[in-house]
Amino acid sequence: MATINENYNKLQGGYLFGEIARRTKNFIEKNPGMEVMRLGVGDTTRPLTPTIIRGLQKGVKRLANVKTYIGYQDAEGKEGNIRLLNAFIGFYKTKSINLKAKEIFINDGAKTDLANIQSIFGLDNIVAIADPVYPAYLDSTVIAGRTGKFIDGKYQDLVYMECNEKNGFIPDPPKQKVDIIYLCNPNNPTGAVATKKQLKAFVDYALKNKAVIIFDAAYVEYISDKSFPKSIYEIKKAKKCAIEINSFSKWSGFTGVRLGWTVVPMDLVIEGTKKGKINSLWSRRQGTMFNGACNIAQEGALAALSTAGQKESKKILIAYYMNNAAIIKKGLSKLGFKVFGGEHAPYVWVKTPSNLSSWEFFNKLLEEAHVVVTPGSGFGAQGEGYVRFSAFGDARNVKKAMKSIQKNLKL
Ligand SMILES: Cc1ncc(COP(=O)(O)O)c(C=O)c1O
Repeated sequence: MATINENYNKLQGGYLFGEIARRTKNFIEKNPGMEVMRLGVGDTTRPLTPTIIRGLQKGVKRLANVKTYIGYQDAEGKEGNIRLLNAFIGFYKTKSINLKAKEIFINDGAKTDLANIQSIFGLDNIVAIADPVYPAYLDSTVIAGRTGKFIDGKYQDLVYMECNEKNGFIPDPPKQKVDIIYLCNPNNPTGAVATKKQLKAFVDYALKNKAVIIFDAAYVEYISDKSFPKSIYEIKKAKKCAIEINSFSKWSGFTGVRLGWTVVPMDLVIEGTKKGKINSLWSRRQGTMFNGACNIAQEGALAALSTAGQKESKKILIAYYMNNAAIIKKGLSKLGFKVFGGEHAPYVWVKTPSNLSSWEFFNKLLEEAHVVVTPGSGFGAQGEGYVRFSAFGDARNVKKAMKSIQKNLKL
């Protein structure tokens, strides 16, 4: 008799973007011809840069020739894979971080590994996540069966690390003992970024408690101030307690191309393990359940990591989105809104006016200004009373949205 994984029935979220789409569709149906400006979704919109396009084309060409054709990514490292691993080693070296090829795992984007990494840890491990935060950590913890029941708006066995205006949306390490800590830095949705000191507090905590940090670095290339760390391994001893997961999605426009990487240091140890054990468990897991990332996308990644590729991503893509973020931030500040983020991440986190709930303000923005945002409550209980503006849209659309808010929103 087959039965389902009952943990799926404990999931609370998932309706967020569906509900946004439903309300937007209703509004458009009721107001035919009305232009709606979408600043909700965190998906990239700008085309890939010339260097990356050439890299991808090279990847296709290699597959067209029997001499350069490659199939499965070989665990021993076929040419494409090794070249990319070496490029990652070089990339980290520029941050004074030394990695070995076997510590880097190429993936098909960060989300898969952020969820799957849980499979190598014990089921009774206590998980801590920030609130509000990117929902994938929470949902994958629920599915894995590590949260307990959902009662009075909280999963009973989960530790929520509250992010609020008081702590600048960067949480403190948990007061109690936890085993797995998800950190999203810079944070989606608040745009907050942690200082070296703040990250060191988490590393110290993890070392003391033999906990592991899962560091989601998807937005680090948006950090505009050199004093903030761009990798958890910039913190001393972090290799003993942290796994870093990253991707080219937000940095180089790979949301559709799909390519990222996960670092599992050989030095990482947790309760009852020796150096190398966690790395070998992850290698075993990937060897069994993952057949490698698209090798065309890997050529694209090689191009993205080249000097020209990195320069283009920064100058063409990141600059474009961050200019949008500045327009949003400035426009809303002028109207007297309390705005956060938007400096080291392409998200602007906005306090709702007059104590409106996140969804109430969502409706008001849609109906009066025809602008779609994301209600903050969808990212966790602490997100209630805020909305997230995404800077990933078309610049003209962003400007139109700001003008419409200035002209039409009844404050
Ligand atoms: C914080 C964060 N991590 C990871 C991802 C997923 O990235 P990828 O496209 O690499 O799977 C997202 C996507 O929105 C994100 O916001």
